[in-house]
Amino acid sequence: MAVEIKLFMCRTDNFGALLHDRETGETAIIDAPEEGPIQSAIEHSGWTPSTILTTHHHADHVEANLALKSRYKLRIIGPEAERDKIPGIDDTVEQGSVIPFGNETIEVIETPGHTAGHVCYYLPKSKLAFTADTLFALGCGRLFERPAPVMFESLKKLAALPPETVIYCGHEYTLSNARFALTIDPDNAALRARTDKIEALRSDGRPTLPTTIGEELATNPFLRWADPAIRKHLGMEKAADVDVFAEVRKRKDNF
Ligand SMILES: [Fe+2]
Repeated sequence: MAVEIKLFMCRTDNFGALLHDRETGETAIIDAPEEGPIQSAIEHSGWTPSTILTTHHHADHVEANLALKSRYKLRIIGPEAERDKIPGIDDTVEQGSVIPFGNETIEVIETPGHTAGHVCYYLPKSKLAFTADTLFALGCGRLFERPAPVMFESLKKLAALPPETVIYCGHEYTLSNARFALTIDPDNAALRARTDKIEALRSDGRPTLPTTIGEELATNPFLRWADPAIRKHLGMEKAADVDVFAEVRKRKDNF
C-alpha cells in the first residue's frame, strides 16, 4: 500500500489513527479523541499532519480539534450535516465528496444512524476505510440520532465495498461485541474462531484491528441479516432484512 497507518489508543477505548502517504508525506489525523496520545503519535512518527478528518460530532471524536489545529495549523474536514457541532471545522463534505490525499483520493460515504450526519472515509485505491462509530469490528454504533432503517441503509453501503477492504473503526469494543455476536449466531464456526483470536489479542493488550469487510460479512451479526441460521435462531425466517437488523440492534441494546 502507498499509505501507512499508525493506530493507537486514546481515552479509554477510542482508537486514534494517523494516515500517511509514503511518497508525498501527506498525513491526516482520523478524528481527534484526545490531544496527548495524538501528539505523541505524531512526534514518534515524525510526520506532519495537514488535516483532521472528522467522522461525527461526538465529544470523544472532536475534543482535541482546537488544540491540534492551533499546534499544527491544520485544516479540519467534517460532515456538512454536523458543521455547527464540530469545533474548528474548515471544509465540509457530504455523500460522494472526494478529498485529494497523496497520490490517491478519499471518498466520503454518508452513514447516518449513530449520528444524523456521520460519514466514513474510503480510499478505493488502497482499499481502506475508516468507519468510526458506524461499523465496528463485530458490531455497529448505537442508534442515537436516526432509527434502525436509516442505519441499515448505511451499513448496506459499507457491506457493498470490496470484501478485501481493510477497516479501521472508532472503538475497541470487539471482545464484548464477540460475546454478544455468539448469542445471535452461536453455530458460526468462523465467529467462534475469530472470538478465540480476539480473546488472545486482548489478553496480550493488543488491538483487534484492522478487520476487513469480508471478515465482517462472515462474522458480524449486524451485517448478517440474510443469514438463514441467524433468521432461524431469531424466529424471523420470513422477516424483511431491515427487521432482522433492527431486532439484532435491539437485543444488543439490552445485552
Ligand atoms: Fe460516537
